[in-house]
Amino acid sequence: MVKSEFMRSSLAAFVIALLAVSIQGSAQDQGGIGVTPGEIMEPELIYGQYCAACHGSTGKGSIIGPSLVSMQAKALSDADLQNAIAEGSPEVGMPMFGRGLTRGELTRLVQFVRSLQSNARVKNPRTDAKAPISTDGNVIAGELLFFSKARCSQCHSVFDAGGITGPDLTHIGSRYGSGQIYEAITKPDKDVDRDFRSMNLTTADGTQLFARFRFDNKNSVQLLDKSGTLWTTYFKDDVQSADRSRDSLMPGDLLDALSEDERKDLMTFLTGLN
Ligand code: HEC
Ligand code: HEC
Repeated sequence: MVKSEFMRSSLAAFVIALLAVSIQGSAQDQGGIGVTPGEIMEPELIYGQYCAACHGSTGKGSIIGPSLVSMQAKALSDADLQNAIAEGSPEVGMPMFGRGLTRGELTRLVQFVRSLQSNARVKNPRTDAKAPISTDGNVIAGELLFFSKARCSQCHSVFDAGGITGPDLTHIGSRYGSGQIYEAITKPDKDVDRDFRSMNLTTADGTQLFARFRFDNKNSVQLLDKSGTLWTTYFKDDVQSADRSRDSLMPGDLLDALSEDERKDLMTFLTGLN
């Protein structure tokens, strides 16, 4: 087993273990997950509690679970989608939800996944603007740039390798047209995904941090460290300030470091990620 596969399956096992506790605890008393008998749980709550950890709260996917808003997932029929959720693929890390969720909950969850799909910005070849960079460069050279000089892999993963500060880009070419990819790279602040928001935090000793955050509440917040691997908890009593920011963590001038040919190679690689 290669290292990234190992990492993914152990991460998935960890998330499944967490989920199993809550599913078992509640599904025993009645048909559905986590509610009193007779009530049905809202699909967005189910999604937030049982799916977002692996598929991302907007369905774009993570290093553990694939995108649910990709062309492939959109192409599944309602019945196939429901089956994928009910039966799972436990051997590759997708739990089986058919026993924990009632039929009604499953149906509504499928509708919810459909709503994520229609909310996600996706490629529309008829109306999308083209990037001002052609996409007939060298794919292999583009992939090398992604993992080196262009710095993309510091924050993004493709094919299970890379960072988690930004969204997984494995299927970016099927979600965005070249113009949308170009805009995401050159105007990152324009449309920041809510899973990847940033925070300015000043620690008690005056150190300033600008990082991805999660679990922000009255008492504490978790920030992702620079290496993009470790979540650190900060207690609000112990910091000088913790302010959510609207700015993207992604610098808008990354293409400036590349030559014209290199930009073309990078765009060729990205648009081909289907
Ligand atoms: C522990 C991580 C994990 C959790 C939790 C999880 N999934 Fe998955 N899911 C996966 C993985 C990994 C796959 C890919 C399975 C494969 O390759 O066959 C997947 C596949 C899927 C697919 C099939 C996608 C396709 O294109 O074929 C759907 C639909 C799906 N998940 C929906 C959900 C929903 C809805 C929930 C919450 C009820 C959920 N998943 C919870 C990891 C997870
Ligand atoms: C310092 C971290 C960082 C670096 C380096 C970085 N990105 Fe990003 N990127 C992000 C974050 C965070 C987001 C999500 C927030 C946003 O939309 O700005 C993002 C969003 C994106 C998106 C939109 C994805 C989506 O699903 O909407 C694309 C495309 C993208 N980046 C491509 C790239 C490419 C190509 C490179 C290398 C040239 C790169 N990024 C370098 C952090 C980074």
